[in-house]
Order: sequence, then C-alpha cells, then structure tokens
Amino acid sequence: SGTSDMKKYWVNEVKDKVGETVELFGWVNVRRDHGKIIFIDLRDRSGIVQLVFTPKDGELYKLAESLRPEFVVSVKGEVVVRPKGMENEDIETGKVEVKVADMKILAESETPPFPLDTPGHEIDEELRLKFRYLDLRRERLKKNLILRHKVNKFIRDYLHARGFIEIETPILTKSTPEGARDYVVPSRIQQGKFYALPQSPQQYKQLLMVAGVERYFQLPRCFRDEDTRGDRQPEFTQLDLEMSFTDKEEILNLTESLYTEMVKAVAPEKKITKIPFPRLTYKEVTEKYGTDKPDLREDKNDPNELAFLFVVDFPMFEKKDDGSIGATHHPFTSPKDEKGNLITRDSIEWMKKEPLKVLAEQYDFVLNGYEIAGGSIRIHDPEVLSAVFEVLGHDKKDIEKKFGHMLTAFKYGVPPHGGIAPGIDRFVSILANEPNIREVIAFPKTGDARDPMMDSPSEIDKGQLEELGLQIKKKK
Ligand code: AMO
Repeated sequence: SGTSDMKKYWVNEVKDKVGETVELFGWVNVRRDHGKIIFIDLRDRSGIVQLVFTPKDGELYKLAESLRPEFVVSVKGEVVVRPKGMENEDIETGKVEVKVADMKILAESETPPFPLDTPGHEIDEELRLKFRYLDLRRERLKKNLILRHKVNKFIRDYLHARGFIEIETPILTKSTPEGARDYVVPSRIQQGKFYALPQSPQQYKQLLMVAGVERYFQLPRCFRDEDTRGDRQPEFTQLDLEMSFTDKEEILNLTESLYTEMVKAVAPEKKITKIPFPRLTYKEVTEKYGTDKPDLREDKNDPNELAFLFVVDFPMFEKKDDGSIGATHHPFTSPKDEKGNLITRDSIEWMKKEPLKVLAEQYDFVLNGYEIAGGSIRIHDPEVLSAVFEVLGHDKKDIEKKFGHMLTAFKYGVPPHGGIAPGIDRFVSILANEPNIREVIAFPKTGDARDPMMDSPSEIDKGQLEELGLQIKKKK
C-alpha cells in the first residue's frame, strides 16, 4: 500500500519505473563511498537496487553515512537512468538508480557473524544453522526456498485439477511399521502412555480410502528417528497420495506426468534423459547395476540432466540377519505370485509356504541415483492382510494389538486402493543441484539431530517431568 502519494514497489520492479517517485523497503546490502558520493545497494527479497546520496542532501547524507550492512531502511526517491558507463550488468536493475529524497532507518544491525553475499558453502555449518535467519538471507538459500515453494504449489494445483482432495492427518498418533525408529511423545492425561509421531501417514491414508475419499493427497511432515545423512533428516516432507479403484499403471502414469510437467514449469533449464521413464524390475536393476537405485544419467557431469526411472516387482519378504522374515516395504503392500497375479484367499497357502518367492506390487521412483518415492498397491482383503502379518511372525494377539484397527476397518467395504509417496526434500535438492537436503529445508537439523538455533532438543523442567510421570535416568 505505502503512502497515498507514492507507490510501494519490490526493489526489482523499479527497473522500468524511470521518472517515477517510489517507496522502497529493505536491507543495506553494501555501502560504497566513491569520493563524496555514497552508493547503497538496497536489497529485498526480489533483488538489489542502487541508491545514491550526495553531500548536498545535507542531513539525509549524514544519515546515509551512518548506514552499515544489514540495517533495515525505507526510502523514497526518484528512479533515474544511470550515467553512461555506470551500468551494472550483474543485477536486473543495473540500468537505473534511485535518487533518495527521504530515508528512515527502521532497524540497526550488528555485524553478521559470517558473510551473506557468498553462496556460503565455505562457512561452518553449525554456525550457519545457529544463525539460520541470517543464512537464509543469502541468494542461494532464498532461491532454494522459492523453488521449493513452486514445487509445492505446482503439486497442489496439479492434483486439485485431477480430483484429489487435500486432507490433514494427525501428528500425535501410534507407531507405524515404516521400518525406522519412532519419535515418541509422552501423554500427560494417560500417564505412562506415549503417542508416536508418524513415520508417514500410511495407515491414515488407507483409512481415508475406507472412508470413501477416493483421491487423497497432502504434503505431510514425517518423522523417523534414524541416523541422519545428506539425504535423510529426522523430519522431512512427502507428497503423500492415495487412490481407490486404481492399479500400478495408473499411479505410475500419474507420477510420470506430474514430474514431467512440474520440471517444465519450475526448472525449464533441466533436460529429462528419457520419457516415458524407464520401468525396470528389481531383478533387472540389481543384476545390471548392482543397486536398486541406479543413476541413469547419460552425462553425470551435466548439472541439468534428470534421469527418472521406476523400479517395480520388488520381493515382498526378505530374510533378516537373525533369519526371521521381514517385509521389504511395509506389510500393507499387496503380494503377488511369480506370474504377477495378486495373492487372493486361494493363493494364501502358497504365500505362506514360499514367502521368499513372493513378489510385491510395489514401486520405487528413482532420480539420478536417489530414491525419491516409494509406493504400492495395497492389500484390501483382511484375510490376506492377516496372512501377511502371520508370515512376518506376528502372533494373533500381537496382530490384534498393533493392527486391529486396520483389520476391523477392512471389514466394512474397503475399495481396492494404492498410492505413492515422493520425498519433497530429495527432489528439490536434486533440482537445485544441492549436495544435501539441509540446503532446501528452512530450518533443518544437524547430523546429530540438533537445532543449534533453538537449542533443541533440550531438557524440560522438573515440574513438566512430574506432570508426565517421567524420571530421567542419568547416563553414567
Ligand atoms: P518410504 O518409506 O519409501 O514410503 O518413503 C517415501 C519417500 O520419502 C523419502 N524419505 C526421506 N526423505 C528425507 N529424509 C528421510 N529420513 C526420508 N525417509 C524417506 C524418500 C522416500 O522414497 N508410506 C510409504 C509410501 C507408500 O507406500 O505410499 C512410505 O513412507 O524419498
């Protein structure tokens, strides 16, 4: 809005506002004194513009002399063409400057603990995370946040246009079998009991299919207490989606067109190696590449190449180190026989006898050597689901305790359904050519799962512990 006589602009908008008097807000990027003239690079989210002050500006000039980097100011002034030879090709507003007529200092700033005008790779990460709000001012991270925003917005628009509805599911919930360790939250009202934070909304999205939603998605935060790596954070974001009356073909096609269209829209400089995306079986990829997430780029030095592929037909079960049988994906995945027929009541006995021959109607989505999504067609017959739990070594009581709610729900007309869950952080970091997902998360955790800015995790006070009925055992 600005003041009545003047228009408030983003800094970058003044490039074609020559002759107009404008009002701008932002941070002092740098101050340069050239002889008697003071130049200030004023920065806002959109970019940088040069402000000019000369000694005949009197008091205003004195105020300009007091400006230091990262001071916050508002200015009013006329946009003028820069003198010949003074243009700056490096910034969008490089042909103009603002002759300031009025300025207010809105906030002063101490000298930041590290430079903000570099990509910042060279700076100690602990320090960057401690002052993340400053770190985010740098161009590279700002661009990453904006790219991520565009990805989220594209996904929402794309799925809304195709009949999906966005539904939020609980964060305080119960352990889910996604294979990692749970983060737990003690209950005050039910002392001695704990919520688990969701490793994914897997069971909720399936229950939404029972509820008749048919096409669901959300961009949920997921929590997994596992060792952090470049492509792993304790909390991360998925595009979680689920459909009823569907099959693998439909889900893979939807995923493929979503990602093809999205790359065109948000990162047009990227080239996709192969469309349609190759679809290889688990057996094929592991035999040929020795991994289930091969990097199929033709030129691995090309930062703009994206090699997507789907890996299908995973084994349903695997032998764990202790000899017991585990689920390769999660136990809700539909098993199938060697010919590709989904297991039904008629083939349950075969599955129990030959678990290691059973395949899964499961797919992974891989990009440049990273797993960027996993999904499957689900079991919708409660008898087949119980049989899978049995193969996994759960006894009847255990099944009832852990998964009784699913088995009960599945007695009430559950539609055949399936879905997929792409990781947002990994995809955006690859698009942004970032070496790790921390660079595309506004407030990530360190390698040992701390937030140095908030100083979390942190101790809680005695009163809180008592209320929760908890006692801390001190490590010796
Ligand atoms: P899955 O466990 O394969 O499937 O996870 C799906 C995708 O989420 C991303 N991801 C992570 N990203 C960052 N940090 C992590 N710690 C992390 N863990 C996983 C990956 C992965 O491919 N409920 C099922 C999906 C389904 O069956 O629909 C699930 O969560 O990109």
